[in-house]
Order: sequence, then structure tokens, then C-alpha cells
Amino acid sequence: MKKSMPVWLAACALAGLFSTSASAQKFDGLAATPQMGWNSWNTFACDINEQLIRDTADAMVKNGLKDAGYTYVNIDDCWHGKRDDKGVIHPDSARFPSGMKALADYVHGRGLKLGIYSDAGATTCGGKPGSRGHEYQDAITYAEWGIDYIKYDWCDTKGLNSAGAYTTMRDAIRSAGRPMLFSICEWGDTRPWEWAKDVGHSWRTTGDIYPCWDCEFSQGSFSAWGVLRILDKQAGLRQHAGPGHWNDMDMLVVGKGLSEDEDKSHFSAWAMLASPLILGNDVRTMPASTHRILTNAGAIAINQDKLGVSAWRFLQAGDIEYWAKPLSGDEWALMVMNRGAQAVPVSFDWGAYHINDDLSKRTAYFKTKPYAWTDVWTGKTGDTTRRLEAKVPAHGTLLLRLKLKT
Ligand code: GLA
Repeated sequence: MKKSMPVWLAACALAGLFSTSASAQKFDGLAATPQMGWNSWNTFACDINEQLIRDTADAMVKNGLKDAGYTYVNIDDCWHGKRDDKGVIHPDSARFPSGMKALADYVHGRGLKLGIYSDAGATTCGGKPGSRGHEYQDAITYAEWGIDYIKYDWCDTKGLNSAGAYTTMRDAIRSAGRPMLFSICEWGDTRPWEWAKDVGHSWRTTGDIYPCWDCEFSQGSFSAWGVLRILDKQAGLRQHAGPGHWNDMDMLVVGKGLSEDEDKSHFSAWAMLASPLILGNDVRTMPASTHRILTNAGAIAINQDKLGVSAWRFLQAGDIEYWAKPLSGDEWALMVMNRGAQAVPVSFDWGAYHINDDLSKRTAYFKTKPYAWTDVWTGKTGDTTRRLEAKVPAHGTLLLRLKLKT
């Protein structure tokens, strides 16, 4: 009897023939603006199951997160069961008894997309089966399940070349044929901003975030970083990001223990630097104050601006720093952040500044071309013909949107 080759094996054979061809590309158009969604890791770590994912998707629809733009529901580490004797990966059957295809159908039925997690090494950071040696097979499995997003980690990769390993997975995704956003998570170790533009849709620039304002937290074998530490590690990276390829400052910790002002500053910074906005809190039960921050349309619009240019710090005065982000339509966003633990009065003379961005070739000369501004957090308005007078709370932020005055 003539036996047909399994589909995945045929695809592997084909991919093997063509994987070095220059035509293999990441899928375009998946992250024209930074991706927005939710991820299980920051709150649930390995304690995940299909009911949590379904309830999260339901909550995102009900509480307006979906309408605010959060699209991806991402399962992080520890969903895995074992590989079968053909090497095909299966989810943990106790935690995901209905299987991933059913879960993807459920999430899609709510108008959302489903993300999954794997690792370039033989084991993930949580000790589960990684994709090393199974890249094409796993990409096909994920595509068959209906996955829309792959976060690809970097544990257990000793001796692997990062650009090579991530390119292999990119090619595997392309050959599997389903557009899946490819989120590179190698923590900035090998400067992915220099090689990943055509490989992934975003790349982590740092180690893991930790919900503190300005701390380094030891996780044993590695450090996790507070909001300011991650912000400071973005220096010199803005020119590498743009539509379809973003610097990823890691998942948000809004609603996970920072003060409300700190949460607003954190969200403002991720918005200004055009980082993916992937929520890390439990969105099924969050206080109204957290919900207000995460759904602030003005802050999200700054992050999602289609020009896709990241902000830069143009002025630092003691604890206060000023960041500018050019926006489409001749608009700007301005962030005034107080790093310090005391409230600080600011008096900013717009007329004294000629903001000039070599990267986007955009300039703003407030003296001759005045702008009207609105603070997206307070709704306060003003214009650049008068000094900006404000008291910035401890660890707080003003986030202004500027439009040319007519
Ligand atoms: C690494 C990643 C995290 C998370 C964990 C899962 O630390 O950087 O974002 O995915 O692994 O084990």
C-alpha cells in the first residue's frame, strides 16, 4: 500500500530545500504599530490553564480592553505537555484538556487572537520542551492550531548563534504559511536591534521587568529590572525601531504593585518609546484606577501613532526629564517625568526650545509656530505661547499631545 508522507514531514523536506533562499521573509503588516495584548507570565507564571485563557478573553471583551486595542491573548511558558513519538508537541492535557485548536477557536470567536510561547533552546526557561531541532514541526503545529503570535525565548541556548536560531524559526513560520507575529525574546543579549529587523516583529531589549520604580531584583541566576532601569537601557536604540520592527521593553506591570503615579509614568514611557503594550496583570479583576490607565485613549494613540518613531530625551533638569515623540500629521507628544521621590514644580519655557529630530527629520519651533496641548492624563489644556507651569508628582508624569495652533 502506498503510504503518503505526513504533511509536516513534507513541509520540513521542502523547507530544508528552500530555507537558505533569500526569499524567506517574516510576514509583513502584522505590527505596523506596536502589538497590543495580554500575556499570562507576569501574574500567573506556570499556573495557567485553558479556563484562565478563556476567562481572560471574555474579560477583555467585556471590560473594553479589546475595544481599546488589546488584541492578543498570549499564553507564556508552561502550557506544554510532551512530544509524541513523531516529535509533535502537545499541550499539557490536564491544564489544556480541550487542546489548543479549540482554545484558538474560542479566542477567535471573541474577535481576539491567540499567542503561544516557545524557546530556541531544547528546553524553555520553565524547563518545558523547547523548539530546538523541531522548529519547522512546531511552526506547522502552531499554524494548524490557529496560533497568531509566537514569543520565542532564549533559555538553554548555549553555543547557539542568536541571529541564526531566530532566522530558522522565522523561516519555519513562513514555510508553515500562517501569518504569526514573531516576538523575539533574547533579552538584548546579542544586540538584536542590529540583526532582527527582517527576522522578527519585535525584540526584547532587556532582561525581565520587575514591578518596582527603580530597582534591580535578583531572580537567582538573573536580575529583573524596575521601570526606570528598563527605560534607561533604551538609550541609543530608537533608530533601530519602526513600523513592523519594535524595541520591546517587556510586558507591562501596570496594576501589579506600583503606585498610581508610577503606573501612569510606566505606561507613558512605554507609549512614548513605541514599545509593544502587552498587559501583565489579571485583567479579570482589576481596580477601576488600573483600568483607566490601561484604556487611556490618548496614551494609547501616542503609542499607536502610525509614524512609528520612538521618543528621545531632549532635556534633563535634576529629577525632571523631558522626552519628545514626533507624531503623524505634524503633531508631537511630550512627556515630563519626575524620577524623584518628591513632587517638583516645573516652569517650562517653550519658546526657548527648538526641537529637532535628525531621525524623523521633524522640527518644532514653539516660538514661531505655537502648538496647543492637552495632558492625556488630566485633560488639562494650554498652549506653547505661555510657560508650562505644573507640579509633577513624585515618580509622576505629564503626558502632553501637541497640535499646531490654527
Ligand atoms: C523568560 C522571559 C519571560 C518569561 C519567562 C518564562 O524569563 O524573559 O518573559 O517568558 O522566561 O519562563
